[in-house]
Amino acid sequence: MSRTFYMPTRIEHGPEVLSKAGLRAQEMDLRHVLVVTDPVITAQPFFATFIEAFAKSDVRVSLFDECGIDARLAHVDGQTARVLREGIDGIVGIGGGSAMCTAKAIAMAVPNGGFSNCVGPDAKMRRAMTMIMVPTTAGSGAEVSQFTLVRDDLNSTKFVAGGPQSFPNLALLDPVVLADIPPRLGVISAVDALVHAFEAMFTSLATPLTDGLAVTAITEITTLLRADKATPEQRERALVAASVANMACGNARLGLAHAASLPLEAHCSVVHGIGVGVLLPRVLQFNAPSAPEKVALIADRLGLPCDADQIAQWLLQIYAEIEFPTHFDDSSLIEGYEDSLAKLALPGLYGGPVQKDDDGIAWVNSPNIRRANAADVAALYRSCLR
Ligand SMILES: [Fe+2]
Repeated sequence: MSRTFYMPTRIEHGPEVLSKAGLRAQEMDLRHVLVVTDPVITAQPFFATFIEAFAKSDVRVSLFDECGIDARLAHVDGQTARVLREGIDGIVGIGGGSAMCTAKAIAMAVPNGGFSNCVGPDAKMRRAMTMIMVPTTAGSGAEVSQFTLVRDDLNSTKFVAGGPQSFPNLALLDPVVLADIPPRLGVISAVDALVHAFEAMFTSLATPLTDGLAVTAITEITTLLRADKATPEQRERALVAASVANMACGNARLGLAHAASLPLEAHCSVVHGIGVGVLLPRVLQFNAPSAPEKVALIADRLGLPCDADQIAQWLLQIYAEIEFPTHFDDSSLIEGYEDSLAKLALPGLYGGPVQKDDDGIAWVNSPNIRRANAADVAALYRSCLR
């Protein structure tokens, strides 16, 4: 079976790359950009510098700063209409995954007659608008990803959308953005990136290219998570590692931790990074019998015993060190509902029809290396409760 590895996004990283944003926009023939962000970011000192960079290059800026937790369909629809109305020719996302996913969804929706025409992991669509992305957390990797995840509040669902036509054109990774990040947000974001790297290794689409990137990201992120106070150089490494993790999972896709976390995020108010992070050690143990060679590769690079149970314990030990939850703390929303939540995980992260085998058993729609049914997912949830 043939495989394709995509990574068309230009990545610039290092101190002061934010100040090049306007110049780069000008080089890409942009005259009027929509900057998509949230009110926390607009209050940061680096944001003023960032906006000034566009003014210095005669690139006009319109601002949307109402992003919050998750990219919201209502924001995407509203700003898509605005882009068309104001003749905006480029989209800039600066923030965490929610802001960048909102920006990307707008960039996809405008040339495709609306976001609904872009839904699905392999949507056939026209090239998205020119995009510049600036991650302000080392986590989601949305700056180098073709995908966006958008929440529809009316139906309590999340849509994945994207394809090769929706990679950002430019990602600017500047360590200044992490200088004042709240520690808890930094940790949750880093664990999300770590899960991206792990999940990329345990899918049916993984290749030596994606494995190499993923295992590099795992090594780097776990080293940085346990480092003492981060230096600017370490902050830059963290941003790069999150991008590397997403280059892996953007091609190999994500597996069972992300699929199983979705219902918890949609119905139990579990934060994405915590949902996937708590599930990760258990999913690793679940997947290990189907990919012992991947366990061996990770163990070799990390200097750990070649044993998934011990790697899972090592992860939980890191979580304890960095004060990341090892279990779902507020299990009241999950306990007793494991079976019904597990059924909601069956459509998977990427959507599509639920697969049933000849015996009528439904399986999670996921490229995860080991297929899982609702009973498996319910057991995973139970293993995450205290
Ligand atoms: Fe994630």
